[in-house]
Amino acid sequence: MTDSVREDIDITYFTEANSADVVIERMSGTGTPRMAKVMGSVIRHLHAVVKEVEPTQDEWMAAIQFLTATGQMCDDRRQEYILLSDVLGVSMLVDAINTRRPTGATENTVLGPFHVENAPTRPMGATISDDGKGEPLVVTGKVVDTDGNPIEGAVVDTWQTSHDGFYDSQQPGIQPEHNLRGVFRTGADGRLWYRSVKPTYYGIPDDGPVGQMLRAMGRGNTRPAHLHYIVSADGYETVTTHIFVDDDPYLTEDAVFGVKESLIRTFVHRDDPVKAAELGVSNPYWSVETDFVLTEQS
Ligand SMILES: [Fe+2]
Repeated sequence: MTDSVREDIDITYFTEANSADVVIERMSGTGTPRMAKVMGSVIRHLHAVVKEVEPTQDEWMAAIQFLTATGQMCDDRRQEYILLSDVLGVSMLVDAINTRRPTGATENTVLGPFHVENAPTRPMGATISDDGKGEPLVVTGKVVDTDGNPIEGAVVDTWQTSHDGFYDSQQPGIQPEHNLRGVFRTGADGRLWYRSVKPTYYGIPDDGPVGQMLRAMGRGNTRPAHLHYIVSADGYETVTTHIFVDDDPYLTEDAVFGVKESLIRTFVHRDDPVKAAELGVSNPYWSVETDFVLTEQS
C-alpha cells in the first residue's frame, strides 16, 4: 500500500472501489509532507479494514460508540486511550521503533501510568519498602556501558507494586506515599544495590470500555510481576524498562505485551540467616541480580 493516489483510476466521484484515493486526493496542496504521509496511510488502511470487514450500519455505530465511551472515560487520573493503545500492542510497537539498540544493550519497554516525578532519593543499600510488608527482596547489579565499563553517576529511578499488586498511588491512606519508589545514584564502581519486597502480578483497569473489549476478545487484563526502571547517565541514551520475575504465571500473557525475553530475571529464594542479617533483611529472602547496559548517545 502507498499513501499516494493511484494514477490508473478515475477519482472524479467517490465509489466503493476508489474510496481511499478520492479522500486522499482532497488533501493535496496543504499541510506538511509528514501530515500528508500520516493521514494518507491512516485513510488507506482504515478503508482497507472497512472493505475487508464490511461492517453493518449497526456494527459501525457500535465502533463509534466504543470510541466515544473511551473518550468519556478519560479524565486527569484515567487515560483510557493509552490503555487501548497498550492492550492493542501499539504502545509497545511505537516504543520498539523509537528505541532500537545494539545487541547486548538493555532493551526498553513501556513506561506505564504509575511513574511519579520526584520520588525520594535514597542512599545505596536502602530499602524502598516503607511499610515493610511482603517477602524481602535484595536487588543487586551494575550500570555499565556496552564494553562493560562501570558508569559513575548513573541515576536509577525504580518503582513497583506492593506484595499484593498495588502501587502506592492506587492506595492512598493504605500505603505510605512513595512506598516502593526510590532514586539511586551509582558511585565509581557503577554498582546498584537496594532492598525491597517481591512484587506480584496485577490487573490493569478493566472497569471501562477497554475492559469490555478485552472480555469480548477472550483476553485477560493481567500484567506479570515486574520492577520498573528509568536509568539515565550523562552522555548515554536513557533506558526505560522493567525486569520481570521468572516464576510469574503470566509472563506469556502480559495484557500490554511489555515482556521481552532479555528482561526476565531469575529471582532466587535464599535461606541464609547470616547473609540476611548482613544485608539487613529478614530470613528467608529473595535476591535478584540485574545489570543495565547503556549505549552512548549518538
Ligand atoms: Fe507496572
